[in-house]
Amino acid sequence: MAEEIKKIIIDTDPGIDDAIAIFVALQSPEIEVIGLTTIFGNLEVAGRTDTPVAEGSYVTITAIQLDPEFFKNVGQIVVLGGAFAVNGNVSPAAEANIFKDPTAADIVFTSGADVLAVGLNITHQVVLTDSHRGELAKSNGKFAKYLSKILDVYFDYHHTAYNTRGVFLHDPTALLASLITYSEGVVRVQTVGITKGLTIFYNKQKRFVEVTEWSEKPSVKVAVTVDAPKVIELVMA
Ligand SMILES: *[C@@H]1O[C@H](CO)[C@@H](O)[C@H](O)[C@H]1NC(C)=O
Repeated sequence: MAEEIKKIIIDTDPGIDDAIAIFVALQSPEIEVIGLTTIFGNLEVAGRTDTPVAEGSYVTITAIQLDPEFFKNVGQIVVLGGAFAVNGNVSPAAEANIFKDPTAADIVFTSGADVLAVGLNITHQVVLTDSHRGELAKSNGKFAKYLSKILDVYFDYHHTAYNTRGVFLHDPTALLASLITYSEGVVRVQTVGITKGLTIFYNKQKRFVEVTEWSEKPSVKVAVTVDAPKVIELVMA
């Protein structure tokens, strides 16, 4: 029996690895992108101006508070976010997406929805190298040509920030979530102070005597491993 085509909404900001993820999504027969939220630019290149684009909300706390049934009506929320047990990318504590709105992130993680969090400790394993970029530049494919151009700035940033000659493919990794294994537990987000945006995963291996901020909260899935070569292979294809 053929698997049902998964309908997905991509909520994203207009970064470079975001553009790669959108291109991969639009080329993947297993999924149908039924909408994009908060994105500018790159869709014209993909030739898919038929995909609806909606502007995100200006107020920070969103859909879950307006509709308590929200979590039942989405299949799964894949969150590219968090720096689980590693340094963040906006501060030693925090990953950028969670840092921008830690209160909303905490609401999502504790909403009861089927959430899969893909953190920096996973996406940092998925590296597109200079030689991959060279292949893209040589290709006649229009996405490849476009990406090889816009990747310049992303490579420069990584060289300055991390002293690497490759770039992390954060968003494409989150998109290709079927290549990820995960563990289940409760995630809470620090919303204030010097560790603002810190994501703390409680794997439930110890039962605490005291009631904690993690007690009685719904579990989510947190990425543990990724098949990095396969992500790169699919992105290149
Ligand atoms: C990523 O973090 C999660 C949550 O702490 C952990 O279970 C997993 O082993 C980590 N994976 C890697 C590759 O560091």
